[in-house]
Amino acid sequence: MENVEGFRVLGGEKIEGQVRLQGAKNAVLPILAAALLPEGETVIRDCPDIRDVHAMAGILRQLGCRCQAGRNEMRVSSAGLTGWEMPDGLSKQIRSSIFLLGPILGKLRRATVTYPGGCEIGLRPIDLHLKGLRALGVSVREDGGVIRCDGGNMHPGDVYFDYPSVGATENVMMAAALLPGVTTVHNAAREPEIEDLQGFLNAMGGRVSGAGTQVIRIEGVEKLRSAAYTPIPDRIVGGTLLCAAAVTGGEISLDNARPADLLPVAEKLKEMGCGVETEKTRVRLWAPARLRAFSCLQTQPHPGFPTDMQAQMLAAACTAEGTGVIVENVFENRLSHVADLCRMGADIRVSGRTAVVTGVKKLHGARVSARDLRGGAALVIAALGAEGETTVENAALIDRGYARLESTLACLGAKIERIPL
Ligand code: UD1
Repeated sequence: MENVEGFRVLGGEKIEGQVRLQGAKNAVLPILAAALLPEGETVIRDCPDIRDVHAMAGILRQLGCRCQAGRNEMRVSSAGLTGWEMPDGLSKQIRSSIFLLGPILGKLRRATVTYPGGCEIGLRPIDLHLKGLRALGVSVREDGGVIRCDGGNMHPGDVYFDYPSVGATENVMMAAALLPGVTTVHNAAREPEIEDLQGFLNAMGGRVSGAGTQVIRIEGVEKLRSAAYTPIPDRIVGGTLLCAAAVTGGEISLDNARPADLLPVAEKLKEMGCGVETEKTRVRLWAPARLRAFSCLQTQPHPGFPTDMQAQMLAAACTAEGTGVIVENVFENRLSHVADLCRMGADIRVSGRTAVVTGVKKLHGARVSARDLRGGAALVIAALGAEGETTVENAALIDRGYARLESTLACLGAKIERIPL
């Protein structure tokens, strides 16, 4: 990705105040894909203004859909859907383009896609997606990076995943929504965003149950109707802001939050000495002058600690008192932010998927570079607590999942600006 903009951060200001969370990226992306399925116009409210959403809307438009971004909402009409070949350039940009395989097959019974892109955080194969679709009778041919799917003989079926992949679970749910008969997904992923996809499919007249557990049942219907839907708030953006308040000794209140979704992060931050209080749709955190280290943090599929919060917690641990261990179990190559944190004075040792971090009193400003979305957010968090000025290059990667992060943080008291590089 081009390095045209960055963030300049002057560390040392407390993050303090109140912020309202928007719809979750990881809920909205599959929901946008599922908006192909009904006749008529879908309205997604609270839709975040982020690059991945724009990229997904771009793909939908190239497939013949109408996508209109309004104030905090996205309207999608699939009436013009004719294409089953996903455009090469855009699908290389975001991994979630793979989510379109399921709904396009469900609707048009054929689909072609190039190997998807997204963050450089490991191999990210798509074997489970293809296994799931094959179990529904799809014949898949892969040649030269292009995957051609023929769904002429599609039927409902039993799908077993030997790993609970989020995207593969969602793909099968969408492919089966319009397949008459009952499809069952075993060892399904249980993330809250999967429950939200179920909520959206059912709002359109679908018959899906079990999301949030390991077994999901999809009873295919003949037609889905359009619907207006508000996705769940973004637990990763929420967690990122909690970490920002935690490293700066600040205090923050997240509104429109779902406390249960933030539990793994809130519990770790409590272990680090923060106070956390929750109400129905609010999470409030106040931080001590210096955090203390957690003993061990291991990422796992939901309801374990989310891999999408690992980098931000590592940034918070850099200046905590004591030594902590982080084990990244979900992706094999998701510690690329460590080198830049060390440039800022952090003491982190990495062996394979394990990082051992010994807190130093203060980090110092440096010129660093976002290498993936969440790792980039972690560098911004580190910069907020550091002494002096930090430039975080590659703002575009952070923009994939945070809507104008600099404005949100500036409203909370940070000295941060977007700069051309
Ligand atoms: C989704 C999230 C991402 C999050 C991840 C894990 C979206 C848009 N993205 O990504 O932010 O980090 O869940 O919570 O929702 N795998 C395979 N074969 C497959 C599919 C996955 O081996 O066919 C592996 C991956 O390489 C990875 C692990 O399974 O190591 C988890 O991947 P998965 O749960 O599929 O994540 P995504 O859906 O890509």
